[in-house]
Amino acid sequence: MRSANIADLRVGQPLASNSLFRYAHPPDGLAVAKVASAASDVVLSMLSKTELSRGLKTDLVGKKLFVFESIDSTNTCARTLAEAGTEEGSVVVADYQSEGRGRLGRTWQAEPAKNLLFSVLLRPKLSKEQSGLLTFYAAIAVSRAIESMTGQRVECKWPNDILLNGKKVCGILIENSFEQEHVAYSVLGIGLNVNQHTFAQELTERATSIANELHAEIDRAELFRRILQEIDALYQDVQKSRYDLILQEWKERCKMFGQQIDVSQGSQTISGVARGLSTTGGLIMETAKGLQTIHAGDITIHRR
Ligand code: BTN
Repeated sequence: MRSANIADLRVGQPLASNSLFRYAHPPDGLAVAKVASAASDVVLSMLSKTELSRGLKTDLVGKKLFVFESIDSTNTCARTLAEAGTEEGSVVVADYQSEGRGRLGRTWQAEPAKNLLFSVLLRPKLSKEQSGLLTFYAAIAVSRAIESMTGQRVECKWPNDILLNGKKVCGILIENSFEQEHVAYSVLGIGLNVNQHTFAQELTERATSIANELHAEIDRAELFRRILQEIDALYQDVQKSRYDLILQEWKERCKMFGQQIDVSQGSQTISGVARGLSTTGGLIMETAKGLQTIHAGDITIHRR
């Protein structure tokens, strides 16, 4: 068996004729790929620019696509492009990241050619205070796309996770640059576990992929286009300051309100009941000291 190697991967390469996966797109929108061949070779199907943009219906997002077989971090690249004046709506996609970044200084690891790793560059009309709302906007767009593609309802977990059957399937890293009190540009970094089957031992309890939950492979390019289309459509709400709509939709997918939770912030842990979201996306908790609004931290939910 030939082992798949990053050095073998090339952007835009046509799929090998003995590709392991053949994709089917049933008319109900459920785009599930079945393993169609019993080929013994491991062939990684790479994302190509042509495939990613085929039939993409957006006004702004993804009009310019930068596709890499391997990169340090799509967020880092998108920030460099932003500093160089690249237009908003540009998207950086990679099949592998050597230095993928997560929230709170963590790393984001994902197997090559199995997942969706991309960053969207936007220049939204937002104040510094409102910039936290972008996480909810991105989470709604990804949630809608996963749900339309799989027929499965996802759960949103504060502040930036999307769960499938209670396990993390997607993480979002928003990085902003400010000019005085306003956002100059924002990079929406999205790491979505799609067709990866195994995770590091310390993550197996908490992380999953769509394929693991559906027991079927997913067409990554189709899912990518759907996410971009949702980001594009919802951007109107962002630009018209309709954050109430975004927060409302996010809350409908959140199961932690009314539940006992712990928020860890470094060495400190705050315990209480999750009660709601502030207008800027802070988490309102009822604690022994009264109502508190939390702006960062890791949540553990004591599920009833
Ligand atoms: C988290 O849950 O901590 C956020 C993870 C975000 C990972 C994505 S993958 C694409 C983009 N590039 C990065 O370096 N990080 C984000």
